[in-house]
Amino acid sequence: MLLAANWKLNKTGREAVHFLNNYAQALPPSDVPTVLLAPFTALPALCDAFEGTKLPRAQLSYGAQNFYFEESGAFTGEVSADMLLEHGCTHVIVGHSERRAIFGESDELLGKKVVRAVEKGLVPIFCIGETLTEREAGQLESVLTRQLDRGLSRLTNEQFLKIVIAYEPVWAIGTGVVATPEQAEAAHQFVRTRLKAMIGESANKLSILYGGSVTPANAYSLMSQPNIDGALVGGASLKVDSLMALHTECVRAAKEKQ
Ligand code: 13P
Repeated sequence: MLLAANWKLNKTGREAVHFLNNYAQALPPSDVPTVLLAPFTALPALCDAFEGTKLPRAQLSYGAQNFYFEESGAFTGEVSADMLLEHGCTHVIVGHSERRAIFGESDELLGKKVVRAVEKGLVPIFCIGETLTEREAGQLESVLTRQLDRGLSRLTNEQFLKIVIAYEPVWAIGTGVVATPEQAEAAHQFVRTRLKAMIGESANKLSILYGGSVTPANAYSLMSQPNIDGALVGGASLKVDSLMALHTECVRAAKEKQ
């Protein structure tokens, strides 16, 4: 079970450090790690502040929301994997639906990012998910299949086991309209089956997170589904109390599943 906080375009370095200190102080030891996905500009401050938390990375770590697959060169405005590693990142989101829809990132580009992240030792949190129009047109499975095939086809079987997948139905993101546990589990089960077709039974070891209007009130019913292995949370991750309550629910669900 993994709890990932996608802060999106929120929090200065100072705000991020304030959050980190309060969260780290309140976080009980558990088997459920928390990963904070911060804006680029907050990473140096998080890196400095992290030293003081004394928490092992297995419990609390941080990363970025995007990067570019090239090492260096004429790519104005972009940030490389090494630049993230320099600031202590362990994870990076790849292919969030906002990157796909607003910034036009293609399946092919995302495929290159996923493989480069793994090569560099960053865990990519690879996001997939359908729009409402696609769901209503009966295209859920074809959309997920396309995103998985094009996004992950460059990975070797060994590299595959170093990624995290996040299923985020676009219609549930930031809308307050959460997928029902049954809807989410059905999509996760489909993703699991597709992953097994790609790499065999070891796909059972992959973490598939659910994202889209997750709150402390609905987290337990989602996280207790057999194929839901954690949450990628936007709005409800911005306040320490709320993220801590989400962590408590994830721990409860994880214990039940043991
Ligand atoms: P919300 O939790 O605000 O719906 O955002 C979900 C998301 O996009 C996480 O990546």
